[in-house]
Amino acid sequence: MKKIMVIGASGQIGTELVVTLRQQFGAQNVIASDVKDTVKDALKDGPYEQLDVMDNDSLRAIVKKHGVTEMYLLAALLSATAEKHPDFAWKLNMEGLFNVLNLAKDKLIDKIFWPSSIAVFGSNTPKDNTPQYTIMEPSTVYGISKLAGERWCEYYAKQYNIDVRSIRYPGLISYTSLPGGGTTDYAVDIFYSANRGDNYTCFLSEKTALPMMYMEDAIRATISLMESPIDNIKIRSSYNLGGISFTPEEIYAEIKKSRPDFKIEYNPDFRQKIADSWPSSINDQHAQNDWGWSGKYDLEKLCKIMLANVLDDGIEVK
Ligand code: SER
Repeated sequence: MKKIMVIGASGQIGTELVVTLRQQFGAQNVIASDVKDTVKDALKDGPYEQLDVMDNDSLRAIVKKHGVTEMYLLAALLSATAEKHPDFAWKLNMEGLFNVLNLAKDKLIDKIFWPSSIAVFGSNTPKDNTPQYTIMEPSTVYGISKLAGERWCEYYAKQYNIDVRSIRYPGLISYTSLPGGGTTDYAVDIFYSANRGDNYTCFLSEKTALPMMYMEDAIRATISLMESPIDNIKIRSSYNLGGISFTPEEIYAEIKKSRPDFKIEYNPDFRQKIADSWPSSINDQHAQNDWGWSGKYDLEKLCKIMLANVLDDGIEVK
């Protein structure tokens, strides 16, 4: 019997992931968990556990209590916040991962999903159509923690025969739950300004191309990776996932088609340096070949959905 636990369930990915997993596997079979003690409305239809993933004893107790078989570990500090709190970011991002990897090593759970990121790449990486295997010299605390995490995932998979699976997410765009502390967050924020009728001040320059993805594609990719037969999973570090690539100028132009009065200005801050060190576009041939990945959303479709759903008061939907 599959029992799934999602750690970081109140976050941008976690919220939509729990909702989708509960639709597919039954609300009672998906335990949502987050460090927050208030439960979001979207998560109220099934079990919820308040947990700090660094508290290993409580983690183990909850896993045993529910008979958890699969873990999605999403609790982490993102790139911009991690630069402000490097020690804590390293501690949370690494300790959380070790606690969960060791659950599988000790045979308490069977399978793990852990997210990596385009942040594992650095300025010496080929920027366009970045291959799966290439130079990786991340310059952010977040990127360093994700690259180290990838190496540990592969190590555990090979040394201890652990079934751990991972995706290098691009920037994720969604309206049900807000992102927090990422360099790619401008591509969500911009829709709130557009719908409020405000001007938008972008913290990246107009020509900064980054790989992005609409959340529904990301959730489909994640569950599809996890549900693929084990023999299809050839990469145990983390799979590149491409999505769509665009610049602030391009997303602005697309939004302007339906919000003709919308204005943008550019005022790059410390996040520009982070963005400049990341790829512009990603090659995800391995994900396509190994587990049949293909995305559904282009920039036009994504903008239509976001503009139709982002509330003008900036409050999260659901
Ligand atoms: N979206 C993330 C960030 O900007 C990248 O993984 O930090």
